[in-house]
Amino acid sequence: MNGDVHKIIEEALPLVVPSEEEIRKAKDAEMELRRRLDEVLKNYPHLEYRFLGSYARNTWLKGNLEIDIFILFPEDTPKEELERIGLEIGKSVVDEYELRYAAHPYVHGIVKGVEVDVVPCYKLKSAEKIKSAVDRTPFHHDWLKDRIRGKENDVRLLKKFLKVAGIYGAEYKVRGFSGYLCELLIVFYGSFLEVIRNATEWTRNTVIDVPAGKVYRRKGEFFVVDPVDPKRNVAANLSLDNLAKFVQICREFLKRPSLDYFVEREPEIPSDEIIAEEIESRGTGLCAVVFKKPDIVEDNLYPQLEKACRRINDFLRRENFLPLRAGYFANESKCVLMFETQVGELARIRRHEGPPFEEEEHVERFLKKERKYKPFIEGGKFWVYVERKNWKVEDAISDLIRRDWRSMGKNVGEKLKEGFDVLTGKDVLKVEGREFRKFLVEFLCLK
Ligand code: CTP
Ligand code: MG
Ligand code: MN
Repeated sequence: MNGDVHKIIEEALPLVVPSEEEIRKAKDAEMELRRRLDEVLKNYPHLEYRFLGSYARNTWLKGNLEIDIFILFPEDTPKEELERIGLEIGKSVVDEYELRYAAHPYVHGIVKGVEVDVVPCYKLKSAEKIKSAVDRTPFHHDWLKDRIRGKENDVRLLKKFLKVAGIYGAEYKVRGFSGYLCELLIVFYGSFLEVIRNATEWTRNTVIDVPAGKVYRRKGEFFVVDPVDPKRNVAANLSLDNLAKFVQICREFLKRPSLDYFVEREPEIPSDEIIAEEIESRGTGLCAVVFKKPDIVEDNLYPQLEKACRRINDFLRRENFLPLRAGYFANESKCVLMFETQVGELARIRRHEGPPFEEEEHVERFLKKERKYKPFIEGGKFWVYVERKNWKVEDAISDLIRRDWRSMGKNVGEKLKEGFDVLTGKDVLKVEGREFRKFLVEFLCLK
């Protein structure tokens, strides 16, 4: 399904622009929300509400409607009061709700079948003196609202393109592009196609200076200057690897334009038999550390999983297991830390370094020790074979976790301390569920 890039973009529009029905449903919910907000805010005359985010700018992606409402508090409101009253108002204007957590706790709910976020924030004079990240949002909206006019569908195309690639969203689980970043890029480059074309030249040192209207390179990180707060990098949460991924799919899309870049598809997963066969045949060490998911929000969980993963992988490198890759996975109930190593089982002995021959006293002490093997000299130093404590990668990992769970993130560490299983080889397939298989197939780099 290749073709001319303009034709493909034309064909992609119906996939990203909300239907009349969705728009009507949104308007209905908005009217109802305004009625309820006007009513409840009579009790709080010092507060005001604003519709912000992608709904307010008409840049939400088809099928992903969610109305963002911000309750603005005077600057001198104590934080506790902002949180308490913010939640109170949120709960009172939605039909059903749950609490979610960003800078402050906020209400996520449903009104007339439409998802709604009700977020409290401070009303400030300048975005450079914000108290928390959400306080920038009104400034973001004011900066964007006129500039984005006429380009709404370009924003939607970009969001969809990123979503299909798995890199839409700034949350830690994704570490991709936020909605605001998408809109800024569209304003800066003028259209979806111009974003894609220019992105093919981005590097890890690229700075997109939106307020100054120029692009340059500066050693550091990929940086998109926030026009409402020039010290702030709007792309701060975009990982280097996801930047690389984006640049690459932009190049591929331009070389072979296709509607596939706008269609979300469930990947085909090989059967367990085929995955098992591959695991057996590649002769690596494969370990899955499985444990109960701590009851914390994703933005807290994923950094901890990453930390635990890195600790263990660094250890495997030091211990000469020659790690290939490490990764992590979580579902509603379980977490998995995965490791693949070039060596699954080491020799029972390793060489232990002793003193150089010149240091008589050290040498004497070294030689006096009770040992199984006779020391030898190499390169003017004494050495001796000692028996390894753990020669199997799974035993080494278990032993490390039991000794060092404290360094693996607060909540993840605590769960690991309570207990974990280590599955090896094709037994990693004992972890249930399709989501895990998707992760595993990516992890193993299976085509
Ligand atoms: N926001 C924020 N801090 C967060 C989450 C959101 O400041 N932790 C702000 C952003 O400025 C954003 C607005 O709240 O514009 C709404 O957030 P969100 O719904 O996540 O993004 P949208 O821009 O509305 O994009 P989407 O279409 O994905 O909803
Ligand atoms: Mg939104
Ligand atoms: Mn939202």
